[in-house]
Amino acid sequence: MNGTETLASPLPVLVTGGAGYIGSHAVLALRDAGHPVCVIDNLVTGHRWAVPYDVPFYQGDIADDGLLEEIVRAQGVRAIMHFAGSVVVPESVSDPLKYYLNNTVRTRALIASAVRHGVPHFIFSSTAATYGLPERSPVDETSPTVPINPYGWSKLMSEQMLRDVAAAHPINVGVLRYFNVAGADPAGRSGQSTEGATHLIKIAAEAALGKRAGVSVFGTDYDTPDGTGVRDYIHVSDLAQAHVVALDALAAEPERSFTLNCGYGRGFSVLDVLDTVERVSGVRLTRTLSPRRAGDPGALIADNRAIVEQLSWQPRHADLETIVEHALAWERGLERRLAA
Ligand code: UFG
Repeated sequence: MNGTETLASPLPVLVTGGAGYIGSHAVLALRDAGHPVCVIDNLVTGHRWAVPYDVPFYQGDIADDGLLEEIVRAQGVRAIMHFAGSVVVPESVSDPLKYYLNNTVRTRALIASAVRHGVPHFIFSSTAATYGLPERSPVDETSPTVPINPYGWSKLMSEQMLRDVAAAHPINVGVLRYFNVAGADPAGRSGQSTEGATHLIKIAAEAALGKRAGVSVFGTDYDTPDGTGVRDYIHVSDLAQAHVVALDALAAEPERSFTLNCGYGRGFSVLDVLDTVERVSGVRLTRTLSPRRAGDPGALIADNRAIVEQLSWQPRHADLETIVEHALAWERGLERRLAA
């Protein structure tokens, strides 16, 4: 049955992938908002230390219905926030079946468990990759979804399953399409810890700290103000907060489901980002101007009017310098944590 929770009442939430980058920030945001939270993670890419030790933690597979039933019963789960999955776009091209298994097939099993065990609310971690190469930027939620890689398709298929399930069963669904997630918890409790990261701000932060020789600028001939790729970088803690207000909205209106972009509606070029990292770190970066990376759109900026109008989302860290400061602070402490 659908819940009758009132706005912002405490709601026990199961976070899948809660030991990963975005999931761990969602755990912190949910706790900070007063929601009881528990985590399931297989620890393939996540870190146990990324989950506070007083948060009930289950190491296992999201497709294990027996385990899901146990967790839902033991923790009284009323909502699932689903972050677990594979996220490396080039790997999805070379190993598509891994992506369809992890992001689509296992998600189908998780949704089935949610329906079977009466979990009334579900929030899904989706991506701007569902838009492919958008015709317009900013891109809004009604834009055509034509992914250009298996990663985007694997997420889009799961979005569609969720919309169909929400129409057929007593569960409502919030699909959140993330733009470029970056930064780290302002209090230093979590951050981007994935090894071999491919994301620009993470790479530039590593370079500023001498962990890599420099940064390649992929493409200088895009139709953008300085010729380099433009992206809508969103602070991971603002994104986590978007999940909290999305949960409140699902709980307040059990008949309502939504699909919303998560971004700020503004873009920075690769050169803007590198300039900012240099300014904040005081380190001059070695830049190598390189050819375009396959499959990269020139500009990808969120039209975020829907989330701003429909949810009471108030971003607090939209400033690029702040995002970079937090990413750098986290990067400084990371070696110590990984060694622990
Ligand atoms: N870039 C560089 N050098 C690098 C890394 C990136 O110049 O070493 C550039 C890219 O070409 C792009 C921008 O920096 O112009 C951002 O690249 P990221 O790899 O940080 O992020 P993407 O925009 O490629 O990826 C994001 C999400 C994906 C999502 C994709 C959809 O991280 O999950 O958008 O296009 F699939």
